[in-house]
Amino acid sequence: MQWGDEAKGKIVDMLAQEHDYIVRFNGGDNAGHTIRHGEKTFKLHLVPSGVFYPEKTKVIANGVVVNPKTLLKELQEIEAAGYSMKNLAVSESAHLIMPWHIVLDGIEERSGGIGTTKKGIGPAYSDKAARVTAVRTADLLLDEKELRAKIERIGEVKNLIIGALGGERLDVAKIADETVAAAKAIRPYITDTRFLLNGALAKGKKVLLEGAQGGLLDVDHGTYPYVTSSNMTAGGACTGTGIPPSAINKVVGVAKAYTTRVGAGPFPTELTDALGEKIRQKGGEFGTTTGRPRRCGWLDLVVVRYSAMLNGTNELALIKLDVLDGMEELKVCVAYEAGNGKRTTDFPADINALAKMKPVYKAFRGWPVFDWKKAKAKKDLPKELQEYLSFVEKELKIPIRYVSYGPAREETIIVR
Ligand code: GDP
Ligand code: IMO
Ligand code: MG
Repeated sequence: MQWGDEAKGKIVDMLAQEHDYIVRFNGGDNAGHTIRHGEKTFKLHLVPSGVFYPEKTKVIANGVVVNPKTLLKELQEIEAAGYSMKNLAVSESAHLIMPWHIVLDGIEERSGGIGTTKKGIGPAYSDKAARVTAVRTADLLLDEKELRAKIERIGEVKNLIIGALGGERLDVAKIADETVAAAKAIRPYITDTRFLLNGALAKGKKVLLEGAQGGLLDVDHGTYPYVTSSNMTAGGACTGTGIPPSAINKVVGVAKAYTTRVGAGPFPTELTDALGEKIRQKGGEFGTTTGRPRRCGWLDLVVVRYSAMLNGTNELALIKLDVLDGMEELKVCVAYEAGNGKRTTDFPADINALAKMKPVYKAFRGWPVFDWKKAKAKKDLPKELQEYLSFVEKELKIPIRYVSYGPAREETIIVR
């Protein structure tokens, strides 16, 4: 519902219990999803957050961009921890992140400054749209000679571009060798996931679609150009999987009880003072993928309302409320005020307009520190916290179903 890192990994792991298929539909290893299970913590970048369920089918669908090295490393780590990834399916139509994408991402960052994760995401999706220099998982099914020829042809084109931009030429023969080796390891997982997933739905199986990133990082609807290069809003779940819109019957929005973002771009409720630092430290707000400190600020309901509109959100999971425990006062942004004094509750499409917006806050008396573990229902929560939750629900007109107070699956209260 925001700019990523809302704890989608935790919520997907929890919801996976009731589903048969867990599917990643967008992004690549720019994502960092943390899942805690007892003593074990996984920080996943590419595979769906269903790894603690070996019997369920995990799918990397066509909307994802796959770095083969990350995929193989992640599979090895998960299997080494004792969880079989035998039931993994990788779409034939997913695009691959190649070494030149990573080099080009670095070069573009030096000239632009979006603050990307430098995982090659933008250049890989650019090639998907450009077509002639793209490599797909389907190419890994080619015979060795054909695959090698394709990699060498594209690699030479990319070397010309990299050279012209002042970068260091890549060893294309080595990349071809690595791709041939990766193809052997990944081939058993590659399948037509459109038929796999629609077939599963036809049999009445339950499919959970996991978005990476956040609505405000959506390439069409986010704070462009400070966004990622895919559509993680609910519509992206359809194009990213081949599941039709009519098959989606519930949209769960994951929102942090405050706001964070990594990378550059406007952020109206950002706290650049000691309070922002306090939230960062208490919430452990450092990037899962890059380790960068996350920018922190108050909950922005203009942002969440906008995200809910784009996604058709039916219910919310509100996360990290524990981080706000014991605060004397807390604030929630309910509208923006433009320079001319006019108020709006609509999120502006133009980031220059957004950068000028001043948040209009409603202040709340904070709730005291209390023992979350003893709370089993909303009525067990401090009354100030109950009021806070009711206010958020009323403003958004969306029920909060889950309240999260810690990284573990058990540290969740089903309040509805
Ligand atoms: P994702 O990218 O949306 O999956 O989220 P990240 O994994 O990048 O960041 C969420 C972080 O918050 C992780 O370190 C989680 O373990 C942690 N976390 C999840 N839920 C809670 C919660 O309710 N309270 C606290 N304190 N931490 C949480
Ligand atoms: P999860 O799934 C937070 C941000 C980057 C940068 C912008 C573009 O863990 O929520 P990219 O490398 O995608 O070209 O970077 O998007 N970004 C994320 N921020 N969480 C993520 O994923 C992100 N994935 C990308 O920081 O601002
Ligand atoms: Mg993350």
